[in-house]
Amino acid sequence: MVMTTREELESVCKRRGFIWQSSEIYGGEAGFYDYGHLGARLKDSWEEQWKDFFLSLDQNYHLVYTPNILPYRVLESSGHVEHFSDVLIKCNRCGNSFRGDHLVEDVTGESAEWMGKDEIKNKVEELNISCPDCKGDLGDAEDFNMMFEVDIGPKGERKGFLRPETAQGTYMNFPREYRALRRNMPFGLATVGPAFRNEISPRQGVYRMREFQQAELQIFFIPSIHDALFEERLEEVAYTEIPVMRTGDDMKKMISVDEIKDLPAYYIYHLSKIYEFYKDIMEIEGDIRLRELSSEERAFYNKIHFDVEINMKSLGGWKEVAGLHYRSDHDLSQHQEGSNKKMSVPADGERKVPHVIELSFGVDRNIWALLDLGYRTGDRDWLTIPDKLAPYQVAVFPLVRKDGLLEKSEEVFNKLNTKFRTFWDVSGSIGKRYARQDEIGTPYCVTVDYDTMEEDSVTIREIKTTEQIRVSITQLEEILQKLTEKEKLFDDYMG
Ligand code: GAP
Repeated sequence: MVMTTREELESVCKRRGFIWQSSEIYGGEAGFYDYGHLGARLKDSWEEQWKDFFLSLDQNYHLVYTPNILPYRVLESSGHVEHFSDVLIKCNRCGNSFRGDHLVEDVTGESAEWMGKDEIKNKVEELNISCPDCKGDLGDAEDFNMMFEVDIGPKGERKGFLRPETAQGTYMNFPREYRALRRNMPFGLATVGPAFRNEISPRQGVYRMREFQQAELQIFFIPSIHDALFEERLEEVAYTEIPVMRTGDDMKKMISVDEIKDLPAYYIYHLSKIYEFYKDIMEIEGDIRLRELSSEERAFYNKIHFDVEINMKSLGGWKEVAGLHYRSDHDLSQHQEGSNKKMSVPADGERKVPHVIELSFGVDRNIWALLDLGYRTGDRDWLTIPDKLAPYQVAVFPLVRKDGLLEKSEEVFNKLNTKFRTFWDVSGSIGKRYARQDEIGTPYCVTVDYDTMEEDSVTIREIKTTEQIRVSITQLEEILQKLTEKEKLFDDYMG
């Protein structure tokens, strides 16, 4: 049985050491979260796997890091100063603030994220919506810019913002990297780091945070020149079926990439690679869909936009965790105009500003998705999580702490710890130790017992089935390697 409420899952995450609200001892601050010792390991391995997977799509996809604070003029050029807002409505009686689209959604049950200030104002009047907290009258709808403003310099001489997306720092590096990468295009620049949004009403836990982690890959290319290259790459994904929901559809369908040939090849290729990441790395298949956003739903900079949505019980259904955005030449053109620096490159006998396709992932939402889909209760409480992502991949126990078993288990632990994320647990009964590892998603438990002392073998227990196999210590590392790399199944080693 999976956990069904957010409160239930949040409480488990707190107890076990994954995630909880930040500044907890002072009562907490909405929209900010801490990762505990297990959460941090899970997040780190997710980020490593993300980098490994997406940077290996092309040898010209690279990693960069840029600051969290950006000067005013950067975000003015990008359009965020003018457009990066949500509709805010305050209650005339209690003064509490609400996101206009959420007020409408709560009554209609339909997404209102695409609605502007005037549409929301009219809907609130038409539906006679009052303050959800005190039932008082609601005030006027206004645009609220979600960026956190900061003063740069001791006297606040210059204005800046905490970046609302990691993308802008990457775009500014385009001309330098273009030269450093010897004018080789297409190229990709990925980054992983925090983004900040002063959300009006952070709700649904880590789903809507004020500081969150993004993993984004920006790919720079010239459509007229590089279309042919991406057409060729489509052969690589020709037999892939992906769960797509086009605008106007009311449910997802598994379709081949041929059935979305109205989209450009560079878009289809990366969409199917994103699905491959979810299928092979996060091991999510049924509870995922790639939903196309209509022009009203898309952000101001996007020409084509599909969101990756995962069906999360704890959040009440399908929720966005990532997106694939075709941003055209919008960002580089804006920065060219704002900075007066050339962003164009020689192409087709003239100068052209490259286009950008962006793979944008919210790390925290993906971590939550793993926990939501993975936690099970029933005969035992356990977390199923892919071996490559699990906070600990292996736990080592002595059956008892006497007769040399403790020392032998330490030896085994030291051997495995350099190769796998390994935990050594010597306290409590063996049953309790298995239960503890089940609760935190450790896929394999290795036990040192009396037979180990006789014949140098140990048992490996698999979390999914709770079955055990006995293997010699000399083969232990190789077997665990094959299991965690998915080269072999546990079943393959059963007698
Ligand atoms: N650079 C493009 C961009 O930022 P976005 O759709 O606004 O696009 C990308 O954000 C991803 O960041 C989302 O798919 C989501 O996973 C995550 N995200 C956005 N706002 C968030 C928030 N307030 N809390 C947690 N994650 C968020």
